[in-house]
Amino acid sequence: MKRLLFLLIPVLGFISCKPPGKPTLADKWKSPADVTGFTQLYAQNCIACHGDGKSIAGSITLKNPLYLAIVLEEKLRDAIANGVPGYNMPAFARENGGSLSDEQIDTIVKGLLAWKDASKLPNAPLPPYSAPLGDVAAGKAAFTQSCASCHGDDGTGGKAGSVVDRDYLNLVSNQYLRTVTIAGRPELGCPDFAHRTPGSPMSPAAISDITAWLVSQRVNEFDQPITPAPAKK
Ligand code: HEC
Ligand code: HEC
Repeated sequence: MKRLLFLLIPVLGFISCKPPGKPTLADKWKSPADVTGFTQLYAQNCIACHGDGKSIAGSITLKNPLYLAIVLEEKLRDAIANGVPGYNMPAFARENGGSLSDEQIDTIVKGLLAWKDASKLPNAPLPPYSAPLGDVAAGKAAFTQSCASCHGDDGTGGKAGSVVDRDYLNLVSNQYLRTVTIAGRPELGCPDFAHRTPGSPMSPAAISDITAWLVSQRVNEFDQPITPAPAKK
């Protein structure tokens, strides 16, 4: 019994030192939605790479009404929990070695969806978030029409940077290329599918074709084409 008391003393001491009202670490994890909330979760885990819609970050802004209108809720949850395997989006679920509970992931998904804004959508039918790769040759022609004015005829850059750079293309998944082809990077000056040629939104076929052409430009470290394209995502 003496021994047990001895063991308990530091524990009791620790508990009584706790300032009133301050949540313990355990409380924090128990009810993340209440304790931290979306704004804080997003700032701690996502903003460095995805920005907040105004600041410039390495990857697409998620505060993009067009992106949020096409992406499925399940895809958001999957990307956060499991990451994008093989690419630079980390997995956040605890069972995948990340630090977020299911509740916290849910809070983030709901918070992202609350950024939806129907009043900011282009006045055109929205293309599907995902689709099989289209036709490479048609994609080259569509690229000339919708992208070359900024990225150059062969994609190696002009007013804007290269989109066929070897390291770049090996760093991003097929779906990411499609996502950018649809939603653009408005915060950097890359317009979305509806604003590249005034009054003439890109068709869903053109989007799938351009994605296929971009994917076809991937080469390995010996500059040999990578066929078939590696990623399915
Ligand atoms: C270390 C940088 C980094 C962090 C931190 C990060 N991401 Fe990402 N994320 C990326 C990259 C890079 C991609 C693109 C991966 C690819 O090539 O498909 C991505 C992709 C995504 C996608 C899929 C985009 C698409 O094409 O539809 C979603 C959704 C996403 N991230 C959400 C989040 C959320 C939410 C957080 C915070 C919980 C987060 N990310 C944290 C780098 C990051
Ligand atoms: C009005 C000019 C303009 C047009 C038109 C344009 N872009 Fe961009 N794009 C940019 C700018 C600016 C960036 C930011 C980076 C840079 O300067 O290269 C960019 C970036 C990109 C990126 C890299 C984004 C990232 O986060 O990895 C891709 C991919 C891309 N554009 C694809 C396209 C495609 C495909 C088209 C045509 C369907 C297109 N762009 C049309 C200006 C443009």
